[in-house]
Amino acid sequence: MRAVAVHHKGDKPELMELPVPRPAPGEVLVRVKAASVNPIDAGIAEGLLPLPQMYPLVLGVDGAGEVVEAGEGVHGLAPGDLVHGQFLRAPLGTGTFADYTVVTEHPDAGALQRVPDGMPAEIAAALPTAGMTALGVLEALGVRAGRSILIAGATGGVGVFAVQLAAALGAEVIATARPDAEPWIRRLGAARTVDYTAGDPAEQIRGTHPGGIDVFLDLTRDTARFGDYAALVRDGGGAASVTFTAPPHLLASERIAVSNFQMRDKPGLLARITAAVASGAIAVPIQRTVTLEETPGALARNATGGARGKTTVRV
Ligand SMILES: NC(=O)c1ccc[n+]([C@@H]2O[C@H](COP(=O)([O-])OP(=O)(O)OC[C@H]3O[C@@H](n4cnc5c(N)ncnc54)[C@H](OP(=O)(O)O)[C@@H]3O)[C@@H](O)[C@H]2O)c1
Repeated sequence: MRAVAVHHKGDKPELMELPVPRPAPGEVLVRVKAASVNPIDAGIAEGLLPLPQMYPLVLGVDGAGEVVEAGEGVHGLAPGDLVHGQFLRAPLGTGTFADYTVVTEHPDAGALQRVPDGMPAEIAAALPTAGMTALGVLEALGVRAGRSILIAGATGGVGVFAVQLAAALGAEVIATARPDAEPWIRRLGAARTVDYTAGDPAEQIRGTHPGGIDVFLDLTRDTARFGDYAALVRDGGGAASVTFTAPPHLLASERIAVSNFQMRDKPGLLARITAAVASGAIAVPIQRTVTLEETPGALARNATGGARGKTTVRV
């Protein structure tokens, strides 16, 4: 089968021909229809995820496809079922950037469920990691109507879900965006945008919100700016990072609640974000769709920035 994989930790991902994986007990073999790109894919190629690995290591954690074979002891899924989710399993190595992947029926590292009737595979593959993260961190921050939230990194995969979810909750969303993305991110629900490349963004927000903001959500890897943004948060408010940019001295703050977010209850989050998309309440902005052959290039591009929603892979 075709697969985008690395032979060794740190290699550049490339398209290769590999044997179709076999489902172990408790696993299903899935014919992949669509996948999506996340920054974690590059991290996995570099061996940064603390899970056992097997090589050649096929990349890709998000996917959607059809069950074609059920391993021994699988009771809830059968050939013909359409499934999607974050197909993360240990050992890493049977990812979704391939014609076939194997998935645990009850994943302990990811989340898997049936695709809702009528949902295109591309949408089902685009939403798991980014959507679960956005929903989980907004729930952890207690975002609600009448509160203001600054989202740094609002224009990427996680950001487009976070902006829409926070706006749907009735919060005032302040989104960082380069000029090209401003009108688009406003249409998704941002009340205000801040060009983080033009002057000091925290100062810009202080100008429009002299009384401060209620919540700060960091989706960037800009460690240097975390403290500046967190200083805008009113006493009793909250700040969270999904990228571990919150420094120890702020994690210990008694003025505001600061955390480095880690996802819990992935199956519950996947069910809720999928329902929100299926109902039409939340859109899944897709920046580009690539083929499996084009996926190594898409991974390289994702690492250089400029994401405007999700990149999906049509397998
Ligand atoms: N903890 C978890 O469970 C979890 C889960 C999912 C993702 N993550 C992490 O969350 C981060 C975001 O993921 P993603 O899928 O949204 O990534 P993404 O799709 O690559 O998007 C990143 C976005 O941030 C923007 N950006 C980059 N630097 C910025 C800065 N200094 N200030 C403001 N915006 C900036 C980029 O646009 P420009 O380059 O044009 O500025 C892009 O729109 C990644 O680091 C990922 O690894 C963590």
